[in-house]
Amino acid sequence: MLEIDILAVIPGLLDSPFSHSMLKRAADQGLLTVRVIDLREYGAGKYKQIDDYAFGGGAGMVLMPQPLADAIRELSRERSYDEIIYLTPDGETLNQSIANQLSLKSRLLLICGHYKGIDERIRTKFVTREISIGDYVLSGGELAAAVLVDAIGRLIPGVLNDETSALTDSFQDQLLAPPVYTRPAEWEGEKVPDILLSGHQAKIDDWRHEQAIARTRARRPDLMNDEGL
Ligand code: ADE
Repeated sequence: MLEIDILAVIPGLLDSPFSHSMLKRAADQGLLTVRVIDLREYGAGKYKQIDDYAFGGGAGMVLMPQPLADAIRELSRERSYDEIIYLTPDGETLNQSIANQLSLKSRLLLICGHYKGIDERIRTKFVTREISIGDYVLSGGELAAAVLVDAIGRLIPGVLNDETSALTDSFQDQLLAPPVYTRPAEWEGEKVPDILLSGHQAKIDDWRHEQAIARTRARRPDLMNDEGL
């Protein structure tokens, strides 16, 4: 059972990603709950202000420390988090190993930044882990949080069945996945490799492994170890 809270500036961006397919199944089975909390509820004054100009000048606003601290403290009183994760382009780059680790946790708080980011003092005081979903800049952390929840949610024990097992995913063994085919066996003049129709499971497994290695060597040699395997 994994409980994920997401502190968002634009909660509407997270309206639907968790209500379909695997994540919905995970929620229906009681294996995953996702709550989205609007940071503005903790904003200051009549206008519920949550951002302000950056000290030292420059374009772009910064999320103020007080609303974030109030939200984090209130939520932490209700749930004690295993990790408080800030989604940010300068965090460690998300990969399958991080997703695996996080899927074994019980309670996560994800903080979505916006504009120029959040006041540095929140990062040092509360945040336990900082994650980027890639070397590009999004307009806010919400879509990054959705990506992270998807990558984690599908790994929660019990969410996938045998057919969708995560064990055969790309990256799970440092290899990209091999090519896959479905019916018809011949389509627009192109045939499925004979081996896949042979019924020899051990040979099929060997073929898939060879294909995975060839594909990884061609496309992502950086994933291969020194022996080229
Ligand atoms: N917020 C803005 N860009 C981001 C990124 N690449 N990863 C995570 N959070 C972000």
